[in-house]
Amino acid sequence: MNIAVFVSGRGSNLQAIINSQIEQSKFEVKAVVSDKISCPAFEIAVKNSIPTFSVGGKEGFIGYSELAEKFDKLKIELIVLAGFLKLIPDSFVNKYPFKIINIHPALLPSFGGHGMYGINVHKAVFESSAKVSGATVHFVDLTYDTGRIIAQRCVDISGVKSPEEIAEKVLNVEHEILPYVIKKFAENKVKIIDNRAVVLD
Ligand code: GAR
Repeated sequence: MNIAVFVSGRGSNLQAIINSQIEQSKFEVKAVVSDKISCPAFEIAVKNSIPTFSVGGKEGFIGYSELAEKFDKLKIELIVLAGFLKLIPDSFVNKYPFKIINIHPALLPSFGGHGMYGINVHKAVFESSAKVSGATVHFVDLTYDTGRIIAQRCVDISGVKSPEEIAEKVLNVEHEILPYVIKKFAENKVKIIDNRAVVLD
């Protein structure tokens, strides 16, 4: 299965996906897309000989319709948002029904929505005194963090002393759960049954 990964920054989830690809060759990252001209995640892509694309309205960026044409040529079957911080235009989301997924660093439907990304999420979780947090992989729909939930993993944060400590614990499970879900897509084991997202064994 050919996939495209959207990134905005560091790219540790992209690296986890590439590591998993090398381990089991069930899927292949064919494109890495960013809302930036350059970012550390692009360096990971270049190191692994994966084509990169900068998308957006500005000069030097390609538009979303051109990106869709590139995806057609590359036969992209799944789009993975791994730390991509911009909202994707409705027309692009509508082109790929149930083919775009996102990882969020908290247990949705709590601690999601506009402005809830990266350390902001962990600060909100820390300030709430929640005793568990975790990672969520969900389908992307037309608003931030509201699509159907595919998989979640929890971490115990009852003893943490800072948002950064939560971030570290959650990132560890992100690196497991995202490759796990992509592999399930490659095996055709992610389904919508009775309006719910289901992962088959
Ligand atoms: C990850 O923690 C991801 O869950 C988060 O950004 C980080 C990217 O890290 N995404 C969001 O907050 C989206 N709302 P990475 O670039 O090292 O993968």
